[in-house]
Amino acid sequence: MAATLAHLLLLSAVPLATAETVLGAYIFHRHGDRTTKSYKPTVLTSLGAEQVYTSGQYYRDQYISSNASAKINGVSSDLAVLSQLQVTAPTDDVLQNSAQVFLQGLYPPTTMATQTLANGTKVNAPLGGYQYIPVNAVSTAASSSNSEDSEWLQAGSGCGNAVVSSNNYFLSEEYVSALDSTKGFYSSLLPVINSTFSADKATFKNAYTIYDYVHVSQIHNASIPASSLLTTETVHQMQTLADKHEFGLAYNASEPVRAIAGSTLAGQVLTFLNSTALSTPSTPKLEIQFGAYATFLSFFGLASLPKVSENFTGIVDYASSIAFELVTNSTSAKPSASELSVRFRFANGTASEANPAQEYPLFGQDQTLLGWADFVKGMQQFAIADTASWCKICGNSTGVCADALGGSDSSGSDPVATAGHSGGMSRAVAGVIGALVTLAVILGLEALVMGLGGLRLVKKAALRRNAVEEVSQTKA
Ligand SMILES: *[C@@H]1O[C@H](CO)[C@@H](O)[C@H](O)[C@H]1NC(C)=O
Ligand SMILES: *[C@@H]1O[C@H](CO)[C@@H](O)[C@H](O)[C@H]1NC(C)=O
Ligand SMILES: *[C@@H]1O[C@H](CO)[C@@H](O)[C@H](O)[C@H]1NC(C)=O
Ligand SMILES: *[C@@H]1O[C@H](CO)[C@@H](O)[C@H](O)[C@H]1NC(C)=O
Ligand SMILES: *[C@@H]1O[C@H](CO)[C@@H](O)[C@H](O)[C@H]1NC(C)=O
Ligand SMILES: *[C@@H]1O[C@H](CO)[C@@H](O)[C@H](O)[C@H]1NC(C)=O
Ligand SMILES: *[C@@H]1O[C@H](CO)[C@@H](O)[C@H](O)[C@H]1NC(C)=O
Ligand SMILES: *[C@@H]1O[C@H](CO)[C@@H](O)[C@H](O)[C@H]1NC(C)=O
Ligand SMILES: *[C@@H]1O[C@H](CO)[C@@H](O)[C@H](O)[C@H]1NC(C)=O
Ligand SMILES: *[C@@H]1O[C@H](CO)[C@@H](O)[C@H](O)[C@H]1NC(C)=O
Repeated sequence: MAATLAHLLLLSAVPLATAETVLGAYIFHRHGDRTTKSYKPTVLTSLGAEQVYTSGQYYRDQYISSNASAKINGVSSDLAVLSQLQVTAPTDDVLQNSAQVFLQGLYPPTTMATQTLANGTKVNAPLGGYQYIPVNAVSTAASSSNSEDSEWLQAGSGCGNAVVSSNNYFLSEEYVSALDSTKGFYSSLLPVINSTFSADKATFKNAYTIYDYVHVSQIHNASIPASSLLTTETVHQMQTLADKHEFGLAYNASEPVRAIAGSTLAGQVLTFLNSTALSTPSTPKLEIQFGAYATFLSFFGLASLPKVSENFTGIVDYASSIAFELVTNSTSAKPSASELSVRFRFANGTASEANPAQEYPLFGQDQTLLGWADFVKGMQQFAIADTASWCKICGNSTGVCADALGGSDSSGSDPVATAGHSGGMSRAVAGVIGALVTLAVILGLEALVMGLGGLRLVKKAALRRNAVEEVSQTKA
């Protein structure tokens, strides 16, 4: 395995051979450095802006500029052409701001758009020719804006069964034993965190928010109480415990609905690349979506990336990104499906020349360049590309879902939809990706587990109510 990996990494460092054409790309991106989820409102910091800006510049060098190493065929290099771009982020300040700053790196201000008026006066846009690229907001079904403020992941997803499945994590053997075995560890951290976490909150149950609080403090606060306790090992342990906790909430092989955000992302990627393949001049060539780390983890789990490296079960760093490139060696203006391939890349943290987006193999295969048919087949194992399928899997039947499921007998269809089918996905449902945020302080579930001894006794509605109540008291 190690040898294969080294080999793969080596391959990805070799410049692309000759005539490959990139037809389109889909980028999913995490926000940059932000303030802690423990104090509202959570905001993007200057450091975070710097990170997403740098990543924007990297992708510009990759896909956009005239000398780009993998220039997207036909994309405008200096003046943003809005019809070529599709940019979305949930209605969340940190994610919306990250997207805006990223776009400044992608299409920096330019004097090329200077216009000459009838009277001869030359006019350039303000701020040196700043380019205005809209970031479309995807709002969530559950209408939770400011998802980065929220600690509780699935509550904002609007997907009933996903919420229940994530809650099941708190009943799992894995969770219960970690909760138990780390009691001493978390109490020992109290001198560092007791201004924010009371003794009863200092447990594995809050593994992510505690880690987040300390991590943000280490970056921004020169005076952390009892900082001598924060040895490299201790911080590493906090981080890996947070990783375990968040991965447990984002993915479970036996309960695919838990990874609903990854499924929805896969559906969007398929739909987008499919339309790019049949490209007309007005088809968007680059889609960029900003969202939460939980979506990365859900997708990684679904796409079998933990088989490549256990690293894929860890929370990705700020400003991480994944990219799907649709490529061909054909010189035809309309390559056939058999001439298309897809390459998957990932950069952990800010992508840059020093930290380029590396190729990784999807679906437990060993090659990083997948033929279109294989790619589609792999993604379709878990992609959800239309609202009706989403509603079925989530067990939702009201609101948006009443319309989507309305009348038509959907009981016979395969719940895992194929891309490009039936009119795509509604905005409300698509919002699930970004909203499925961070999680942490959870439910009075622990009490339920101990007191009632099992989820079966608890009505789903009651569970969800608990989740929502917790959310309103806290944030991420
Ligand atoms: C493209 O040219 C710009 C400006 O000369 C330079 O900064 C950048 O590094 C070049 N990018 C690549 C991929 O060669
Ligand atoms: C030219 O037209 C613009 C817009 O009407 C006006 O703001 C500007 O003052 C004019 N310049 C001259 C030299 O008349
Ligand atoms: C799905 O159902 C859950 C629980 O009833 C609800 O909270 C959520 O808003 C619903 N989502 C949609 C998109 O209707
Ligand atoms: C994963 O799901 C299975 C089946 O529902 C369950 O037995 C197991 O405890 C779950 N594991 C975690 C970590 O949630
Ligand atoms: C936090 O812990 C420190 C060291 O144990 C103690 O001095 C301080 O009073 C505690 N603060 C709170 C708010 O409990
Ligand atoms: C840094 O930490 C100290 C001690 O917890 C706190 O009083 C202070 O407000 C923090 N400063 C910042 C900038 O977060
Ligand atoms: C996994 O992470 C370790 C430590 O950061 C790194 O050395 C290793 O190269 C990573 N492996 C992969 C496949 O990314
Ligand atoms: C990304 O980096 C973090 C460390 O900051 C690590 O925990 C995680 O496993 C890494 N993910 C991958 C896929 O390399
Ligand atoms: C294009 O051809 C080069 C050189 O043979 C090869 O390395 C690359 O994988 C091909 N790309 C595609 C998309 O087939
Ligand atoms: C895109 O989806 C449509 C509708 O499902 C399908 O007919 C077409 O073959 C797909 N395109 C490619 C390149 O697979």
